[in-house]
Amino acid sequence: MSAAPDYQAQYQAFKQRGLKLDMSRGKPAPEQLDLSNALTEALPTYKAADGTDARNYGGSVGLPEARALFAELLDVPAAQVVVDSSASLSLMHDVIVYALLNGVPGHAPWVQNPVTFLCPVPGYDRHFAICEARGIKMINVPMNADGPDMDLVEKLVAEDASIKGMWLVPKYSNPGGVVFSDQVVERLAAMKTAAPDFRLMWDDAYRFHHLGEQKLAVANILQACEKAGNPDRAIVFASSSKVSWAGSGVAALAASPANIAWWTKHAGFRSIGPDKINQLRHVRFLKDLATVEALMEQHRQLLKPKFDAVLAQFQALLGDVSGVSWTQPQGGYFIDLVTPDGAAKRTVALAKEAGITLTPAGAAFPYGLDPKDRHIRIAPSFPSLDEINQAAQGIALSLRLALTA
Ligand SMILES: Cc1ncc(COP(=O)(O)O)c(C=O)c1O
Repeated sequence: MSAAPDYQAQYQAFKQRGLKLDMSRGKPAPEQLDLSNALTEALPTYKAADGTDARNYGGSVGLPEARALFAELLDVPAAQVVVDSSASLSLMHDVIVYALLNGVPGHAPWVQNPVTFLCPVPGYDRHFAICEARGIKMINVPMNADGPDMDLVEKLVAEDASIKGMWLVPKYSNPGGVVFSDQVVERLAAMKTAAPDFRLMWDDAYRFHHLGEQKLAVANILQACEKAGNPDRAIVFASSSKVSWAGSGVAALAASPANIAWWTKHAGFRSIGPDKINQLRHVRFLKDLATVEALMEQHRQLLKPKFDAVLAQFQALLGDVSGVSWTQPQGGYFIDLVTPDGAAKRTVALAKEAGITLTPAGAAFPYGLDPKDRHIRIAPSFPSLDEINQAAQGIALSLRLALTA
């Protein structure tokens, strides 16, 4: 019989490698950013199709060709799309601030009463940070394999008029990789809410970010809401951050005509128009849905081996540990490593000591509080394949060690 592996010794040996890896955010790797370098040459003229000089002020809803591109990408009419500057997160933030201060169309400012949001967990830390920063109370809702626990969601929104909104990442969610089923989309669109001014914050950040062979699709939320008689319920957000350049892409918001008019009015006070030069070069580079899908296939080729490496290391080093599991995402940017109760924080601390910076344990929960201290978000995109292999080993050894303490 062979002796049991000495994880303490293996961990110490790993530490000696002196690794310095930051895996705390899901950032595209330099080779992915290089795929869009043609953007630097994609601007032979400053004139938009309608004659607009993109170098000047104006065009608060975005250039017509940029709206047409995002209309095709998001499967919505161009009149229901606004294309803005680079970050969809800013659009989400501003929707919430406008709703708090001014109210959504036809309703009083949210801020006049306590405001609560439902937060499927684990979820995106920056969504929760917006709520925390703007004084919105958050309620955790468990995420199932096909979307949020809808029985609970329907019960909560029907009972509590302070629940004005809900965060949703419908495809390849951050960090669980969940893809919403048609039934979940329909229920979200049709559910009875005590608050008449309830909004779904539909963050379609990973719409084109497939890892598997199959391009999974999620039902159209704006159409579902309209069909259910709640046309103003959903606001869709997207950007080219992880299609072209993160932080230097273009962001879009899609919604009902009433919500678009509302957004345009309030956004008009904060800007004399978005960066239309960037919109123009993105339109020339990204062109249409087929071109975007071809570009995303190149991203997939770069990302897939990194995800596979993490999954293989976890299987080899953690496959026999009871209570440990991880997601096998079909797309998106993350793997959710789930530890036995109470082991996530300690694992992240041990990984840090060994030179691997991870997203703080708990970050995927409102207020940074993972009630059972179980979830660790793994972001394999940025480091090289060699670094990823090493990091996954280091994380697995850190977890092993955390469980022996
Ligand atoms: C779910 C989700 N939404 C939004 C963003 C950020 O998008 P943007 O760069 O358009 O602000 C991210 C980035 O990680 C994300 O994971």
